[in-house]
Amino acid sequence: MPILITNIKELLQIRESGITKLSGAEMAQLPLINNAWLHLDGDIIKGFGTMDTCPTLPNAQLIDATGKTVLPAWCDSHTHIVYAGNREQEFVDRINGLSYEEIANRGGGILNSAKKLNETTEDDLFAQSKLRLEEVMQQGTGAVEIKSGYGLTVDGELKMLRVIKRLREAYPIAIKATFLGAHAFPKEFKEDHSGYIDLIVNEMLPAIAEEKLADYIDAFCETGYFSVAETERIMDAGKKYGLRAKIHVNQFTAIDGIAACVKHDALSVDHLEIVTDEDIEALKNSNTMPVALPTCSFFISIPYTPARKMLDAGLPLALATDFNPGTTPSGNMNLVVATACIKMKMTPEEAINAATLNGAYAMRLSNSHGSITVGKSASIIITKPLTSYYQLPYAFGSNLIDTVIIEGQII
Ligand code: NIG
Ligand code: FE
Repeated sequence: MPILITNIKELLQIRESGITKLSGAEMAQLPLINNAWLHLDGDIIKGFGTMDTCPTLPNAQLIDATGKTVLPAWCDSHTHIVYAGNREQEFVDRINGLSYEEIANRGGGILNSAKKLNETTEDDLFAQSKLRLEEVMQQGTGAVEIKSGYGLTVDGELKMLRVIKRLREAYPIAIKATFLGAHAFPKEFKEDHSGYIDLIVNEMLPAIAEEKLADYIDAFCETGYFSVAETERIMDAGKKYGLRAKIHVNQFTAIDGIAACVKHDALSVDHLEIVTDEDIEALKNSNTMPVALPTCSFFISIPYTPARKMLDAGLPLALATDFNPGTTPSGNMNLVVATACIKMKMTPEEAINAATLNGAYAMRLSNSHGSITVGKSASIIITKPLTSYYQLPYAFGSNLIDTVIIEGQII
């Protein structure tokens, strides 16, 4: 049934079609209409305007949004929602003084999650993961990228990607899948990096391509993980199968990985807690979207991405959760937006742009998601009554969401 939402106090993020990403300067503006209506027809936005032009639609379900804000559903371009078990013990170990690196060196971290994942059946993994997907949909996420990377074996990586495919089939939310076989070196390949990359290139990638299980390819380009040269080999291999790169880079150290990603026309570079002037120069005038993950910085107490410096240099920026068991056990985009404002000094307008349209770009979904545009996906958030949208980041601990609609379905 069509849906007509009336008396919307603020309808946010109105954009012409064809705008696929926003630069730092453009992100300062968040176009809106006060006292608006919005018509959703099936899974698309059919029309909107001010209340004096509101159509009469006898067959539509009416939603009165008096006092409420409506905005596009969040576009979370970086998650690891599919995982087995959790890492609560490492959380407590960190409280007691160990660092993320020390825990990883003891066999914890990614290898700990990989062990659990390989001991978990596909059905169990699906059952655990779907609860998290349902939770983030309730929290207003309408498009999401999900990575593999806790298998680190042919079977484990395929299992994860098959679960992502099942999630896509079971839920209305748009899902993009990213193959992250290059997340860490398994113990048996610690001294044989090229052996593990051979396994990724010669066995994992062909099997994944055969089943059409991935849209993108990722690697953890970091000191102690995948070097820049190793990451380039992964990006080259992905390209042969039409998988564009979305790369974990500059989380702990800057090793010139960003320039290499730009050279390979990566769709996004993600984390960026440590950013040099050279990194900023490399990103200028590129097609590569920088993605910040502020709740990861919050959870493991590392620096925040220098968003101000990047935006003031004119770069675009997207925000995502990084939902994963080790560094960000939260998929709450509302908290990401608030943290970006509070800790990274992004304005509410910049943060909302980063979490909607630019997030959609980082999944190649900005032709269909991320703004209120006729013909785009009917995926929106209706808030509780707000004094203004500033309340979204301001009242950071409150649940301000009243209703979430994804692809025309009330969640
Ligand atoms: O994005 N940095 C690499 N990967 C994940 C964390 C993985 C883990 O600790 O399980 C991240 O933060
Ligand atoms: Fe990540």
